[in-house]
Formats: sequence, structure tokens, C-alpha cells
Amino acid sequence: IPVSLIGAPTDVGAGARGVSMGPEALRVAGLQPTLEGLGCEVIDRGNLSGPPNPWQPPVDGYRHLDEVVAWNSAVHEAVYGELQQGRLPVLLGGDHCLGIGSISAVARHCREQGKKLRILWLDAHADFNTSLITPSGNLHGMPVACLCGHGPEPLVRLGGHVPAIQPNMVRQIGIRSVDEGEKRFVHEMGLEVFDMRYIDEMGMRHTMELALAMLDERTHLHVSFDVDFLDPEIAPGVGTTVRGGPTYREAQLCMEMIADSGRLASLDVMELNPALDVRNQTAEVAVDLIASLFGKSTLMRR
Ligand code: ARG
Ligand code: MN
Ligand code: MN
Ligand code: MN
Repeated sequence: IPVSLIGAPTDVGAGARGVSMGPEALRVAGLQPTLEGLGCEVIDRGNLSGPPNPWQPPVDGYRHLDEVVAWNSAVHEAVYGELQQGRLPVLLGGDHCLGIGSISAVARHCREQGKKLRILWLDAHADFNTSLITPSGNLHGMPVACLCGHGPEPLVRLGGHVPAIQPNMVRQIGIRSVDEGEKRFVHEMGLEVFDMRYIDEMGMRHTMELALAMLDERTHLHVSFDVDFLDPEIAPGVGTTVRGGPTYREAQLCMEMIADSGRLASLDVMELNPALDVRNQTAEVAVDLIASLFGKSTLMRR
């Protein structure tokens, strides 16, 4: 399946500036040639455009809501267009609020094609805040809640269908920072979360077996990869680092097991912040992991 890279160079949903440079850092780290080396046909669609970051305080619990809506609309149309052409969209973020545009497009495509949707949310954070419980007002902390129908009107109805997804389509992996009110809401909505405690106790292999359980040929698998999922020792180039994430080996196994499922159909690579990185190492680690996600293996694959 042919791949399309889509850059979304904005940090309007984040609390630190710089993830707007993420798409270029992933390109510089060799994302396209790496995927081509694995036998994928890849087109780089270049970057989307949208409003600049006004860098204002939150209003009614949201920072930059209008700008976030504009960027997400552009992302939604671009991702939906690629899926309609039978291509695998790879969204290069940009902050994680753009998961709303991307996943609402994937969900719309799945509804139209009669496919089942499974979303793997790889992140240190649950991103399940609302305007009433957010500690920051940053919309990158709210995309999963918005997709589940809890958020500002224009974001919740972005894909036409409300809610865009059901909580039971989501598996969150690597979670280790959830705000007080957010914890209660995650519990209330019944989100399935494999937090770091779970991964420590049960291991990445067992975690991924469960997260990938019950997929079939009608399942569209979407991976939303927030680079802060990774331990900051290997991935310092993110705005919201949280200690104690997956190691390089654990993250590789996670990606390899997703590849082995054979169901990957769309991907977001979010929150990479080159302004905080060390010689682009985080982008390089992300590209290594994406290679595994697209089937790179050490030996011949059986
Ligand atoms: N939970 C915090 C907040 O709502 C941090 C969210 C971080 N999200 C992210 N996509 N990096 O502000
Ligand atoms: Mn399709
Ligand atoms: Mn995060
Ligand atoms: Mn996130």
C-alpha cells in the first residue's frame, strides 16, 4: 500500500513552541528514503498550511481554539483524501491536537467502507482533558476526549459524525501522566489504558498481544504515536517529557508487533520538538521505530 507523507507544521495546540518544526526534522532524519528502502512507494505531499501561533492565554478553557479548528480541518481533508485514494497517510506533526483531524478522517473513511477501527494511542499522556478539567487549556491534552464527543462544538463535529469514535475503539499504551480530573474521566468513559505500571508488570509483549487482540481483515488499524511515549533518555526532543517511558527495545517490540498484525492503515507521528532535541537524535529514533512499524526486521520475515 502506497504511503503519503503529510506535514502539519504547527504548535497551536501545545504548551511549548517548536513542534511546528517536527515535519522537517523527520524528513531530515530520512523518513522517506527509509520507507522506500523497505519497498514502500512513498509520496511526500509537502506541508499543509494554516494560521500562525498567536501565543495567547486560554479563553473559556481553550487556547487558540480558532487556530486549532483551522489546522484540524486542513488535516482532516488531507488525510481523508489520501485514504479515499487507497493510500496510507502518515501525518507528520505538529502537536497532538491534530489527532482530531486525522482520526476523524480515518473514522469517516471506516464508516463509509464498512470497516472496523482500532486506534493505538502511544503516549505518556491520556490526552483526555476537557475545558472544565484541563490544567493548561492546551488542546493537545484533549484530542481523545474531543474524538469521543467531549469538547468544543467545531472540533467535535469536524468529521460530520458525532462522536467520531467510541472509547472502545481505543487502546492507550505507555501512559504515565494523567491529570486529576482527567483520571476520573478516563475511568468514567471506560478507556482501555495499558499504563507503564502494566507494561512493567506484564511486559511489552503481553501488552501488545492484548492491544492487538481481535483484529481481522476488516480492521483498519490507526497508530497515533506521540513521541513523548518514549523514555526521555532516548527521546529528549519533546515539550512534555515524562520519566519512565518505554526503552528503545520495548518501543521496537511494540512497533514490530504492530507491523506483524498486518493491519496498519494510517499513522500520526506527533509532538517531535526539534527546538528541544539534541542533534536531531529524537527524530532519528522516531524514524528507526517507524521503519519497524513498516516491517523492517533483522532477519528474513517468515
Ligand atoms: N495533560 C497535560 C495537559 O492537558 C499535558 C498534555 C500533553 N499532551 C501531549 N499531546 N503532549 O496540558
Ligand atoms: Mn481503506
Ligand atoms: Mn504526550
Ligand atoms: Mn499526546
